Amino acid sequence: MKGKTPNLRIPGPTPLSPDVIKASSRQMISHRGREYEEMQKRVTGNLLYFFQTKNDLFLLTSSGMGGLEAAVVNFFSPSDKLIFFTVGEFGNRWAEIAKRYQAKLIRVKFPAGKSCEKEEVIRVLSENKDAAGVFITHNETSSGVLNDVEAISPLVRQHPNKPLFLVDSISSMGAVNLPVDDWGIDVAVSASQKAWMSPPGLSFISVSARAWERYGKALMPKYYFDLNMYRDFAAKNQTPATPAVGVLFGLDCALENMRKTGREKIFKKHLQMRDYLRAELRKIGLQLFVSDSEASPTVTSIVIPRDIDYHRWLEFLREKYNVILAGGMGETKGRIIRVAHMGMVEKENLNEVVDALEKSLKKM
Ligand SMILES: Cc1ncc(COP(=O)(O)O)c(C=O)c1O
Repeated sequence: MKGKTPNLRIPGPTPLSPDVIKASSRQMISHRGREYEEMQKRVTGNLLYFFQTKNDLFLLTSSGMGGLEAAVVNFFSPSDKLIFFTVGEFGNRWAEIAKRYQAKLIRVKFPAGKSCEKEEVIRVLSENKDAAGVFITHNETSSGVLNDVEAISPLVRQHPNKPLFLVDSISSMGAVNLPVDDWGIDVAVSASQKAWMSPPGLSFISVSARAWERYGKALMPKYYFDLNMYRDFAAKNQTPATPAVGVLFGLDCALENMRKTGREKIFKKHLQMRDYLRAELRKIGLQLFVSDSEASPTVTSIVIPRDIDYHRWLEFLREKYNVILAGGMGETKGRIIRVAHMGMVEKENLNEVVDALEKSLKKM
């Protein structure tokens, strides 16, 4: 379908509103000047509101993976024991980063489509009394699973070695309630192209006072992502290297809009969109990959019906119905397709998706 704006329903980059598109395409400014500094201050303040924290928060010019790498290299040393509870591809990638920096890895994998099981978390924590860090993905985008961080956080806090608690909230922060301070999260990471309705290019990382204490002893090598440099520059509302100024223009605009709406309303809307889509998908006979109690508020996974070639299905949806969806990743590749409802999304967008899914299956 040439000409018509596609109904982009992949889990990032998410669609931009017309005012964000406009804001993103203006003339550059000096990243060492007053206008820029005021923008960085405003953006950081708005992000802190959504992270629900008084911790430090830094803007990194990188995709989300850069933020995840920064979370590893700033607070740990090679041979530190780090526990990763993973429920999918993105959790595994985070663990891989730690492995490359020679951490002593305890990787606890849960089956695709399932969230972390509390009993298993308790068992692993009690068997690893020397753990220095506990890592979890809040919203596993590759399978559409939301982990219960609120339930896991007290387990980490009660651990005798007082490990840091690090959360990949790349595809949940700004859409799902994740109060960093209330839930004792030492490091949380997100990225601009997700619920923030902004172009890709920036990641955000919040750092607690406890994490800063570990920073002083951390021996993993780092340069571009050395957060101490970011802390120095943040004091004057700047970043150590040239930031993605164009992305910041869009993000600033999107955040001001989000702030006006308010976080509670945004969180509620994402839950409503999830429940609405799940009900509509069931009505047309599609099977969902994740149970209602573990389902992500930002991305829904559909089991690929038998005898359907998913490459052809996705192509058909794109070419014939202008609907862009994502396939599975890692273990879920070939098993599911994914519909994102993250950031800018209305029922009409989801109705279009459901309609296209139903019609395309009939034709195929
Ligand atoms: C949960 C999660 N972690 C990590 C990433 C990687 O982020 P990026 O692709 O921005 O590097 C993603 C991207 O989809 C994600 O959803």
